[in-house]
Amino acid sequence: MATSGFDVTPDFARLMDSRDTLAAYRDRFHIPRGQDGAEWTYLTGHSLGLQPKSVRAYVERELALWEQLAVEGHFHGPQPWVPYIELLSESSARLVGALPSEVVVMNTLTVNLHCMMVSFYRPTRERNKIVIESNAFPSDQYAVKSQIQFHGYDPASSLIELAPRPGDTSIRTEDIEARIEKDGDRIALFLLAGVNYYSGQFFDYARITAAARAKGCVVGWDLAHGAGNVPLAIHDSNCDFAIWCTYKYVNGGPGCIGGCFVHERHARDFNLPRFAGWWGQDKPTRFQMGPDFHPIPGAEGWQLGNPSVLSMAALRASMEIFDEVGMAALREKSIALTGYLEFLLQQHPSRNFSIITPRDPAQRGAQLSLRLHGKGRTVCDALKDEGVICDWREPDILRVAPVPLYNSFTDAHTFVEKFIPIVER
Ligand SMILES: Cc1ncc(COP(=O)(O)O)c(C=O)c1O
Repeated sequence: MATSGFDVTPDFARLMDSRDTLAAYRDRFHIPRGQDGAEWTYLTGHSLGLQPKSVRAYVERELALWEQLAVEGHFHGPQPWVPYIELLSESSARLVGALPSEVVVMNTLTVNLHCMMVSFYRPTRERNKIVIESNAFPSDQYAVKSQIQFHGYDPASSLIELAPRPGDTSIRTEDIEARIEKDGDRIALFLLAGVNYYSGQFFDYARITAAARAKGCVVGWDLAHGAGNVPLAIHDSNCDFAIWCTYKYVNGGPGCIGGCFVHERHARDFNLPRFAGWWGQDKPTRFQMGPDFHPIPGAEGWQLGNPSVLSMAALRASMEIFDEVGMAALREKSIALTGYLEFLLQQHPSRNFSIITPRDPAQRGAQLSLRLHGKGRTVCDALKDEGVICDWREPDILRVAPVPLYNSFTDAHTFVEKFIPIVER
């Protein structure tokens, strides 16, 4: 889709919608409606994706099997529950660009992050630092600080937080590389978000991974805002691990099961310390109930307990759509759609807001983060009153994400039409 030649009229938005080859996918999702019966302009897929209409049938199928087979459903029925996670391996691998044996769905993101740090954060006196972004998602901040303390170190000296230069709103790759050059020998773990939740910055994960690994650092990526949003080739990046959630761009539903990638070079490293549980036990011996733990080779060997089948059923419905569309087509529309939203906002130079997300489409996904100067969350609330759903991140950020699977160019137009009078009030 062309990203130039935009114009500001609603007719143009309709024209773009009529040319959008993915437009029909919108109808595959439930779009919530307000009390007046009108569809919401839902721009919050970066927080909770909409429900695919096919989810109900997937979940109801498992409910029926539970009703009819109860415990027998673990080994019998069309898709027995014990190997059910395997139904998600290939599609999860495609989503993040990995081998099926390198991915597993399990737990939720923060739990997976801790599991990964148990194996991959191995601090020593010389090398004990963890690098994150200064505005990393709070759960990541808490998790890494608690891991540092767990190993007897002090976050005050063992945590490095990367921040943009004064006056910048995103972190420059060359500054990250310079930091790696300077402190790399003391860094045990490099852990950034693929796409930062606050600014929407999409990091050059391959270049950063290469630089950090060249200095001997272990590298992990939090793909909470990357999975389903931007194309990823996480295997080729050679990072050590990645984790993600499936309820944002992946549309698996609230609290849906998380995802985890472990690079294949670690698949058979059974000497790595890890927290063990019976679901990670080698499959042929799992039900022998023996006392010794022999992990499954690959990412599945990091599982703890048996996963929620209802959650995985919902995720399968959603992944089917991703498999059908493919990330390349989604990305093409996403660049055009977010570019169009940015174009419309730029037609209203204002002292009351600015865009903090990088202007370069290669450095962002679907989300634009708007800094509201002296306005506060009342803008977000006023938009909600008008059926436009975005979200607010303290102290001053309105996050807006036109999601290419179900948002339209008209949605972007509606947002700007409602937002400008409110923010200029
Ligand atoms: C970047 C990032 N990391 C971690 C989390 C925490 O995820 P969970 O609650 O699934 O552990 C989130 C949740 O929004 C997130 O956005």
